[in-house]
Parts: sequence; structure tokens; C-alpha cells
Amino acid sequence: MTTNKKCLLVAVCAAAALIIAAVSLADADKSAKDSSSTNVKAETKILSVLEDMSNDRRYAMWNITPEEGRLLWVLTAAADAKHVVEIGTSNGYSALWFCLALRTTGGKLTTHEIDPYRISMARKHFKNAGVSHLVTIVEGDAHKTVTRLKEPIDILFIDADKAGYFDYLKKLLPLVRPGGLILAHNTTDLASEMQDYLKAVTNNPDLETIFLHKEAGGISVTLKKRR
Ligand SMILES: C[S@@+](CC[C@H](N)C(=O)[O-])C[C@H]1O[C@@H](n2cnc3c(N)ncnc32)[C@H](O)[C@@H]1O
Repeated sequence: MTTNKKCLLVAVCAAAALIIAAVSLADADKSAKDSSSTNVKAETKILSVLEDMSNDRRYAMWNITPEEGRLLWVLTAAADAKHVVEIGTSNGYSALWFCLALRTTGGKLTTHEIDPYRISMARKHFKNAGVSHLVTIVEGDAHKTVTRLKEPIDILFIDADKAGYFDYLKKLLPLVRPGGLILAHNTTDLASEMQDYLKAVTNNPDLETIFLHKEAGGISVTLKKRR
């Protein structure tokens, strides 16, 4: 082969390599854009169900506020939680805020509810929001059903019968992983009904508790310390 032909061959090969690299980059960019747009769509779908629930007061069932919901979302995402346990599903409003984070952490929610009507509403909302695959609803009295839980818990959210908070804590604290969080709702407005719980989370040296949104219902955030 002459030198000219060799040069031509090298140039053709280099051009082909450049074209292949450009096509691969374009494909990777397109796939990243597709996945990002799928994620945005999934998030928007959950937020739109939440918005409908907030606007339709027929659906208001002692739910947390949107601000508290955003707190649950942020904490769950920051903790990279894989397993959230909720006591008190109601119509699924707070659960949907958890799902906003869980769909990105690869986690799941186990939520407990005693009232069959609220459970049916929650199921409908989870379906409409496209998150049914992330949620397991445990039906029945949570004081009994939580004893069936065996897996470690990253975040425990207590929002059911106020006088029962201490019992839920006693039963589930051993499953909360070190570094995990225990959240409790209504720690301001209904504090008088959960004095034993409040003492337990503030006096135990293995726990560190702060109180947020004190001007409203109030929410406590308790860290189970790593030892
Ligand atoms: C305040 S609402 C929960 C609101 C929900 N976390 C939200 O923000 O969307 C309390 C729920 O706890 C449920 N509940 C009360 N006692 C219970 C028990 N012993 N076991 C399971 N659920 C219970 C009630 O039926 C009610 O739906």
C-alpha cells in the first residue's frame, strides 16, 4: 500500500471513530433526558394527587399540612431511607409525601390503618399517584399488627391514637436502625395526651429529639443515636 493510501485509510478510520463516539454520546444524552423526564412526570403525578387532596376538603382526614409533608419528603430523601413505617395511614396523604422520596431512594413504605373506609381511600390515592408498588397497607389495630414487623426501619412516623404513641415506640424502637429517625405528629397541640411518649424521647440518652412546627400541630424528630 502506498503512503497516500495509508494516510487515507487512517483518516477514514479516525472519522468513523469520531462519528461512532458522537452517536454514542447523543444516545447517552437522549437516554439521560428520557429518564429525567420520566422522573419529573412520576413526581408531578404524585404532587397533583396531593394537590387534589388538599383542595378537596371532603378528603381531609386529620392529615398533616403540606409544609409538614415537605419535611417528610426531605428527611426521607436525605436519610436515603429504604424502609419507612407509618402508623396512621388515614386516606394516604402523608404516605404520598414519603413516596415522593421513596421512589428515588429505592425504598418502600409499610403503613398501618384500622379504618377500612380510609384504607379504601388510601388505596385509590396510591393507584392514582402511581405508587401502589411502593406501599404495603397493614390493616387492623396497629398495636397488634406492628409486632409482625421484623425488618429494620429507617424512619418511623407515628400519627395515630395519641395515647398509644408510647406503646408504638416501645414496640418499634428496637427495629429502628442506629442513625434512623422517629417522627411523631401533634406533639404540640395534643401533647397532653402523649406525656409518656414525650418523656421517653427526651429522657432516653440514646435518643436526641427536636420539636418543629411548634406553632401548629407540632412534629417531633428523634434521632436514634449510633453507639
Ligand atoms: C391523624 S390520622 C393520620 C393522618 C395521616 N398520617 C396523614 O397525615 O395523612 C390518624 C389515623 O390513625 C388511625 N388509627 C387510630 N388508631 C389506630 C390503631 N390503633 N391502629 C391503626 N390505625 C389507627 C385512624 O383511623 C386515623 O385514620
